[in-house]
Amino acid sequence: MDPTIGAVARVFSGIKPTGPVTLGNYLGALRNWVSAQADDDCLYCVVDLHALTVPHDPAELRALTLELATVLVAIGIDPDRSTLFLQSQVHEHAELAWLMECTASVGELRRMTQFKEKAGDHEFVSAGLFTYPALMAADILLYDADRVPVGDDQRQHLELARDLATRFNHRFGPTFTVPEAGIPAVAARVMDLQDPTRKMSKTEESPQGVVLLLEDPAAIARKIRRAVTDTGAEVRYDPEAKPGVSNLLAILGAATGQDPCVLAGKYEQYGPLKADCADAVVELVRPIQARYAELASDPGTVAEILSRGAGKARALAGPVLDRARAAVGLLPR
Ligand code: TYM
Repeated sequence: MDPTIGAVARVFSGIKPTGPVTLGNYLGALRNWVSAQADDDCLYCVVDLHALTVPHDPAELRALTLELATVLVAIGIDPDRSTLFLQSQVHEHAELAWLMECTASVGELRRMTQFKEKAGDHEFVSAGLFTYPALMAADILLYDADRVPVGDDQRQHLELARDLATRFNHRFGPTFTVPEAGIPAVAARVMDLQDPTRKMSKTEESPQGVVLLLEDPAAIARKIRRAVTDTGAEVRYDPEAKPGVSNLLAILGAATGQDPCVLAGKYEQYGPLKADCADAVVELVRPIQARYAELASDPGTVAEILSRGAGKARALAGPVLDRARAAVGLLPR
């Protein structure tokens, strides 16, 4: 019998505090963080060190970090069941990142499409933005994660984390668990409502195209009703040919647990699809917003959750880091 059958999997994932949480973050990743808690041993991390890779305002970073941690509790991350913590409060991440930087090649980091997109033609591009995927690999490998629930845009980074783990194990002996990406079948890439060829993103300047989890429900409904749709009136799930309508079908499908292709058969016009999609998203965010308001009125609770989480994370990360240090030939501390 396979000894892993019935075993609890270790799940790890992270989110950057670079802007308010979007519907894309929630449908593509965060709701799967919540559901994984039923069966698996989960660690969830606000990856604040990753937020330093792009220009930022320190006061804003502090506020966004606390807001994000509060949102994670509000959506249902249960601190008694899962470990919720801040990356910067567990120094092992930065230390293992160095070993990962020395495992990755410049060539493979240069091929990362997110680096190319984020670097664009900016005058200043930090070295940290370039080595970002090495830190992300360290985040995951520090906890012997079996599965990493993420949206589709993180697929390439996950593949690199797997390559680095495999290479390290090959060079220095078995040290790391090689993780799998957990990418949802529906809404793995929620698109901008005004430009459905572009990913919905918390850092984009597209106020009408991006739905925020904590936004006023009336504004959310308005944005969805005004979403750009495609030429032709047919409602069909076809992300290539009909990106606008397919995005709405994917959002509605993810929000209500239905297959977007089946849903498409129920609509003959765009208007009713938009109305149902708006209603479903508003229903989804309402309880989250109520819980957020409760938690935000008592920031001490979330700070205490994070401090407890950091302690639990450190206890797991320390031995793995020691294993990796010993494997590469560093003397014990
Ligand atoms: P981040 O902070 O950009 O996004 C957090 C999660 O949300 C998903 N996501 C989306 N899913 C569907 N549609 C969208 N429009 C959309 N936008 C974002 C992302 O795929 C992600 O799962 N590099 C990571 C953070 C990270 C991490 C890690 C993740 C750092 N270390 C270790 C997993 C494991 C990032 O920038 O995610």
